[in-house]
Amino acid sequence: MRLEGKSAIIIGAGQSQGEGMGNGRATALRFAQEGAKVMAVDRDLGSAEETVLMVQQGGGECVAFEADVTKEAMLSAAIAAAQKRWGRIDILHYNVGVSIAGGDAPLLDFTEEAFDRISAINLRGAIMACKHVIPLMRQQRAGVIIMISSLAALENYPYVAYKVTKAAMIAFTQQVAIQNAEYGIRANVILPGLMDTPMAVDTRARASGKSRSQIAAERDARVPLRHKMGTAWDVANAALFLASDEANFITGVSLLVDGGGALKVG
Ligand SMILES: NC(=O)c1ccc[n+]([C@@H]2O[C@H](COP(=O)([O-])OP(=O)(O)OC[C@H]3O[C@@H](n4cnc5c(N)ncnc54)[C@H](O)[C@@H]3O)[C@@H](O)[C@H]2O)c1
Repeated sequence: MRLEGKSAIIIGAGQSQGEGMGNGRATALRFAQEGAKVMAVDRDLGSAEETVLMVQQGGGECVAFEADVTKEAMLSAAIAAAQKRWGRIDILHYNVGVSIAGGDAPLLDFTEEAFDRISAINLRGAIMACKHVIPLMRQQRAGVIIMISSLAALENYPYVAYKVTKAAMIAFTQQVAIQNAEYGIRANVILPGLMDTPMAVDTRARASGKSRSQIAAERDARVPLRHKMGTAWDVANAALFLASDEANFITGVSLLVDGGGALKVG
C-alpha cells in the first residue's frame, strides 16, 4: 500500500481503442491497488468509466470525471471536484498525449491546425492543469506532479508537433520543480519509449493499413532490451515510484522507461 491515504487525479485515464492496456488506465489501476483514491479524468467519459469499473472490480476507489484538456475551465472543474471530494490532492498525473491521431506530420506536410490542436492537448493542457492544482499543493505544503513526455523528445522522431511538445514538457516540469520545491511539491517527468499500447500500435496500424502484429513486430525489433516493447505496466510502475514517498527526495528528473532506447541516440 505505497499510496495509502493519498488522492490522485489522472488526466487521460481512459484509453484509445485497440487491444491491451493504455498507460493512463494502467496507472489508475496501479495507484488504486496501492491504496490511492483516484479520479479518472478523460474527454471520453465512457472510457474513463470503464477504468473506474476495472478499479472497483479490484476493490479500489475511483470516480470518473469528463474534461477536455483543451478547455481550462474543465481542468479547473476536475481539480475542484477532487478537492471537494477528498479535501486534498496529493498526486497530479498528466497522461494525455496525441501524435498522428491529432494530425501530426513531417515538417513539409505540417499544418497550423495540427500544431494548434496537438500543442493544446499535449502541452497547454499540462500547463493549465498545474496552474490549477499548484495553489492547493502549496497550501498543503506537499504534492506530486508527474508528466508523461516521450523518448521522442530526445530521439530522431519523424513528426513535428509530438517531438516539440514532448520536449517542452520536460522544460516545463523542471520549471515547476524548481519554482515549487520550497513548498514541498515534487515534479518529475517520465519518458516512455516504445510501448505496446493501443495508442501507439493500433493507431499506427489503422493509419498505415498494416496489421497490428506487423506494427508490433517492427516496434519490437527497434527496442535494445530483449527486442520487446515495454507495456503500460512499466510506465505505471515508474509513476507509482515517483508518486510514492520512496521518491521523497527526487524532483525535476526525467525518467526514461524505454528499454535502452535512448542509448541508441548516443
Ligand atoms: N504508447 C507509447 O508507445 C508511448 C510512448 C511514449 C509516450 N507515450 C505517452 O503516453 C501517453 C498515453 O498513453 P496511453 O497509452 O494511456 O494513451 P491513450 O491514448 O490510450 O490514452 C490517453 C487518453 O487521453 C484521452 N484524451 C485525448 N485527448 C484528450 C483531451 N483533449 N482531453 C482529455 N482527454 C483526452 C483519450 O481519450 C485517452 O483515453 C501519452 O502522453 C503518450 O504521448 C506513449
